[in-house]
Amino acid sequence: MTRAVRRVFPTPQAAIEALARDFAAAARRACAARGRFAIALAGGTTPAGFYRFLARCYRRLAWERFQVFFGDERFVPPDHPDSNYRLVRETLLDHVPIPPAHVHPLPTAGLGPAAAARRYEVHLRECFAGPPRLDWVLLGLGEDGHTASLFPGFEPPPGAWVAAVADAPKPPPVRLTLTYRTFNRARRVRFLVTGSGKARAVARVFSPPPARLPACRIRPAGGCVWYLDRAAVGGTG
Ligand code: 6PG
Repeated sequence: MTRAVRRVFPTPQAAIEALARDFAAAARRACAARGRFAIALAGGTTPAGFYRFLARCYRRLAWERFQVFFGDERFVPPDHPDSNYRLVRETLLDHVPIPPAHVHPLPTAGLGPAAAARRYEVHLRECFAGPPRLDWVLLGLGEDGHTASLFPGFEPPPGAWVAAVADAPKPPPVRLTLTYRTFNRARRVRFLVTGSGKARAVARVFSPPPARLPACRIRPAGGCVWYLDRAAVGGTG
């Protein structure tokens, strides 16, 4: 695992608060340098507490200059309980002043998964005037070492920035995901992983020899920072 920094905290909340400071500092730097902050957010359950904390305690960020993308999406309607977009909307987007035109959900209606992936790839290239270069990406880790919807044994089409997944082992099976190529072009990539249920996967990611897990293939030039609680690294508490 190249240039992966582990930051371990006593509790999930401590990890969330440290990650929020990282996020806010990156937002200030990006807005000063480029006038905007382009982020891709994670789904699943772990990040909900982070999003709620940002909405509650970081209202003074320049939210109107943020551009919000998604690292992956379940291929369900945007108001479906499994939708990552719905999770982010309910915990964050409904509570901070990001203009709706600055929120870019992966399309999951009116198109098949492969066409939706192609549509989002075109949209990304329009938003970035070329290959996408996100400022800040949040990822989670599955117990099998997956991240976003990049699962073991799945290889995105060569050169793809967005891919469709037909048979994800984590339901629902049909998904859309940004690819390793997209994540590895990002300026900053952060993982938020908490709970003892992830300890084995975290140990496999960080223990030599490097495991061939999807999360180990996230190797942006700027390195990754993992925000972990003690339980996720096998500690007590
Ligand atoms: C998803 C996520 C997925 C998630 C991990 C961890 O759409 O399911 O993108 O990669 O981050 O599976 O999920 P939990 O946070 O629920 O443990």
